[in-house]
Amino acid sequence: MHETRELKAHGNTVLVDVDPGSKRAGRPALWPTVGEYPIYDQFLYSTMTTDHERNQRFLAALAKLAPGRRVLDIGTGEDLLWAYESVRAGARNALAVEVIDDAFHKAADTLATLDQRDLITLLLGESTTLRFAPKVDVCVAEIIGSLAGAEGAAAVLTDARNRHLVPEGLVVPHRAVTLAAAVRLADLLPGQPVAFSQAAIPYLQSIFDWHGRPFDIRLRIENPHTGALLSDGRPVEVLDFNGELRTEQRTTTRLAITRAGQVDGVLTWLNLWCLPDDEPLDALRMRTNWASIYFPLFDAPVPVAPGDVLELTVETALSDDGIHPDYRLVAVLHTLDGTEHHGSLTSPHHGGPFRAHPAYRSLFPTA
Ligand SMILES: C[S@@+](CC[C@H](N)C(=O)[O-])C[C@H]1O[C@@H](n2cnc3c(N)ncnc32)[C@H](O)[C@@H]1O
Repeated sequence: MHETRELKAHGNTVLVDVDPGSKRAGRPALWPTVGEYPIYDQFLYSTMTTDHERNQRFLAALAKLAPGRRVLDIGTGEDLLWAYESVRAGARNALAVEVIDDAFHKAADTLATLDQRDLITLLLGESTTLRFAPKVDVCVAEIIGSLAGAEGAAAVLTDARNRHLVPEGLVVPHRAVTLAAAVRLADLLPGQPVAFSQAAIPYLQSIFDWHGRPFDIRLRIENPHTGALLSDGRPVEVLDFNGELRTEQRTTTRLAITRAGQVDGVLTWLNLWCLPDDEPLDALRMRTNWASIYFPLFDAPVPVAPGDVLELTVETALSDDGIHPDYRLVAVLHTLDGTEHHGSLTSPHHGGPFRAHPAYRSLFPTA
């Protein structure tokens, strides 16, 4: 069972399918992607500050790299988290920058209460436009998306390496990779309607308000049913923050179907290394605030069997803000009977069409 809810988007009414089901912890839930929009609130920040898998990796990296060094924390958030932890780990000093006004002011209140406040400088603004000296030795930036590069990490950290970091300086995290596997959306939410979680509706409203109109927002699946994966998972986006960091990239990979089922798109998820030799955080298999992103590709589910291959190309190109990438996915599903099924999706950071794909027409019905 699902219900239909009305959102207002700049004078227009938008209908949204909502799942009124239970809020049982660990139940799959469909949300809009949230990390790449300036709509962070206390709830979203708290999902990060309580993320043990994430935090232990960042803390281990700072314990190793921060002592005696100048640290820059890009996107410090309302808790001033990594600037504070850097100083606690023995950093010479820390510069914290935050672009969201409200989060900056809360961080300023927190800073005023800290013993080590003299070692931390907090600035309001975007790291890509701020200027400061001297350069720093370490840059920590938790601006990693559920889709690794979606929050603009490649452009922001390319700029940080060019303008803010000494030549031999290091970035934390070290590496982020997005993997993809073949799925059918309904199988990721077994026994539930394919509809947005009730809790997600205010965020959907905030994103449409921020942009000024509705658009086909990326679909975030929390706690997806992992038994729904029909292929192996393969990298489709690689961000090497201390190596060759590309702001735009194109990857073609072949997803081997390993089980019989139906495919209508791909599920993507994050693997993250804070230090090169870390055990990576795997957002699909660990309990973490990062979720998975589902992309619809085919208009209707296509039956598949072991031996079939989904050839997937994922391309990122900077959007018109020069920071956040747009994603383009092109798929050719080769089934053993020799048939080719073609599918594609353009998923801009903001803007683009509304209700272009059948999956979106179902989530946003008309009266
Ligand atoms: C995912 S949150 C992380 C918050 C906190 N650092 C943590 O790890 O819990 C990302 C934060 O970075 C901020 N941000 C993203 N890009 C930024 C930039 N280029 N300059 C300053 N702040 C940025 C966002 O507004 C948001 O508060």
